[in-house]
Amino acid sequence: MKLKDALNIDDLRTIAKRKLPRMVFDYIDGGSDDEVTLRRAVSRYDDYGMTWRVLKDVAEIDTSTTIMGQDTRLPFFISPTASTRLFHPAEGELAMARAAREHGVIYACSTLATQTVEDIAKANPGPKWVQLYVWKDKEIVKEFLTRAKEAGFTGCLLTVDLAVAGKRERDPRNQFSVPPKPNLSLARQVATKPGWMWDLIRSPKMSPANFSHMIGKGDQGGLMGFVNSQFSRSVTWKDVEWIREFWGPGFAIKGISRGEDAKRAVDVGADAVWISNHGGRQLDTSVPTIDLVPEIAEAVRGRADIIADGGVRRGSHVAKLLMRGATGVALGRASLYGIGAGGEAGVRRALTIIEEEFRSTMALLGATKISELDPELLRIPKM
Ligand SMILES: Cc1cc2nc3c(=O)[nH]c(=O)nc-3n(C[C@H](O)[C@H](O)[C@H](O)COP(=O)(O)O)c2cc1C
Repeated sequence: MKLKDALNIDDLRTIAKRKLPRMVFDYIDGGSDDEVTLRRAVSRYDDYGMTWRVLKDVAEIDTSTTIMGQDTRLPFFISPTASTRLFHPAEGELAMARAAREHGVIYACSTLATQTVEDIAKANPGPKWVQLYVWKDKEIVKEFLTRAKEAGFTGCLLTVDLAVAGKRERDPRNQFSVPPKPNLSLARQVATKPGWMWDLIRSPKMSPANFSHMIGKGDQGGLMGFVNSQFSRSVTWKDVEWIREFWGPGFAIKGISRGEDAKRAVDVGADAVWISNHGGRQLDTSVPTIDLVPEIAEAVRGRADIIADGGVRRGSHVAKLLMRGATGVALGRASLYGIGAGGEAGVRRALTIIEEEFRSTMALLGATKISELDPELLRIPKM
């Protein structure tokens, strides 16, 4: 199947699977433990039935909205994902950021990006946010955020669901590491993926590009060793306070699943509460995010925006999250399958597919603007 023939996100997944070495595809595709959260994230949308309003003039549909102060053409955007050059060795985040810009959606860059915030900003002068994991050394956090702000990033997304990395069993089974280490397993897996291998060989060495300059010669375990030894497992609400103060407005906390935490997030100054379980890569058997939206909305009481993600593979999934009360929706794997399938063009294809599906869902629902996507239209499954 060619990129232009991909009708849905699952088709892009099929192409990505064909093009990427198994260890790389599985790194995108996999989740933690028994992958229950991962599977349910996608299937749970099917349990929410839709009703629709008839005989409404839907000739004009306005999909524009505002998420965390950012006006945007569409209510969905690209979620931060680490090491994008793994999936597209030549450009990685630059291709993803350009596709977002071209399509008119917000781009969010991971702390563990394999391109610098400055280069990403050059590739995408449009709206963009930066995601943060907290480092033990406060000065590293401050320097990173200062650089991101100077480069033009206007939102900071603090991820709080990764105190330790989830147990993702596909990775050790595939002998996977970032950057990929030459070994027999890799050799076998890339033998049938010459395109990816060729790109990798021609591209500069992969690294967490925003921190490469901080790595001393004596650091054990190279770049990833440095990263692992620097992440803090002791982040608490106190840290959130100084980070919010240091960054200023445009601050979201990503990885919230409980109303009481959502309320506390708003109390410490979050402008958006982001309901996420890291795409099923962290705590397995987490409750599907779509189930949680009303509880979080109730706790937040309109004092902050609500972003949600997890398992979004269809435009109707975006609509359902909005009908449950989300302000904005983030796409993780949907855009990653796109980049794996065809680089920048593949991400564009993913965004186009989701947009077209979303627009047609709105028309079929009889909704002409985002505010008309209300919970009345949904039939909620028994919890
Ligand atoms: C390969 C991969 C890498 C990710 N890296 C990050 C990251 O660096 N920071 C972060 O906050 N979330 C990260 N996430 C989580 C996504 O931002 C998002 O929450 C999740 O993918 C949403 O679920 P979905 O993939 O089903 O859309 C990652 C997800 C994937 C699949």
